[in-house]
Amino acid sequence: MASKARGVLIAGNWKMNLGPRGTQEFFSALPKLATAPGLTAAVFPPMLSLQRAVDLAPAHGLQVGAQNVHWENSGAFTGEISGPMLDEIGARWALVGHSERRQYFGETDETVALRTRAALDAGLRVIACIGETKEERDRGETRDVLRRQLERIEAHPNLVLAYEPVWAIGTGLTATPEMAEEGHEFIRSLVDVPVLYGGSCKPDSALGLLEQTHVEGALVGGASLEIESFAAICETAARIRS
Ligand code: PGA
Repeated sequence: MASKARGVLIAGNWKMNLGPRGTQEFFSALPKLATAPGLTAAVFPPMLSLQRAVDLAPAHGLQVGAQNVHWENSGAFTGEISGPMLDEIGARWALVGHSERRQYFGETDETVALRTRAALDAGLRVIACIGETKEERDRGETRDVLRRQLERIEAHPNLVLAYEPVWAIGTGLTATPEMAEEGHEFIRSLVDVPVLYGGSCKPDSALGLLEQTHVEGALVGGASLEIESFAAICETAARIRS
């Protein structure tokens, strides 16, 4: 098993779920999460729930991040939020380039790079997401896609990548640990930063994935909304760390 010298990160991407009331209820019902040296856990609520999460999360040992961030600090960018604004309310992280943003909101490799740079400049930690679609994998293009998505991204001490095969997101089709490891090892050969796995990571698949040498954590969607599964994945990560 990997030494995971850089620690393990479990990040819960809530997507467009849990408004401020739901966020309050989530934290009220959350049991004490497993901890271990080098284990970090964070949640990424919708923007409207961020402040509530920032207020409630520390008591549970959780950090908080936003699901998006703009590349300018301020200005005429209706609907966007900047890195300094996130920093001002106490959010520590920003998620950038999720495949849903690429698919539905016109995010490109270029805007992903701009958002990543700006968030890092604002002092935030960033999880930048990459991954191939089913068609790209079937055509044998996985490595080309990952290489292209990483072209404009440079290593930084506050940067984490998430390898999320698009075909595995929200589908229940988890990549096998071997597939994940192969992708992670390739990504690490291009940029030496921690790489999380994402895509239908559930309590029963977490151990096999997290045990892989180059898997340094997980970006968890659906299972992070269910308290029991999120706690179980944190527990698995804590076991791996200790
Ligand atoms: P999922 O989502 O765990 O529900 O597949 C992962 C993600 O989109 O980050």
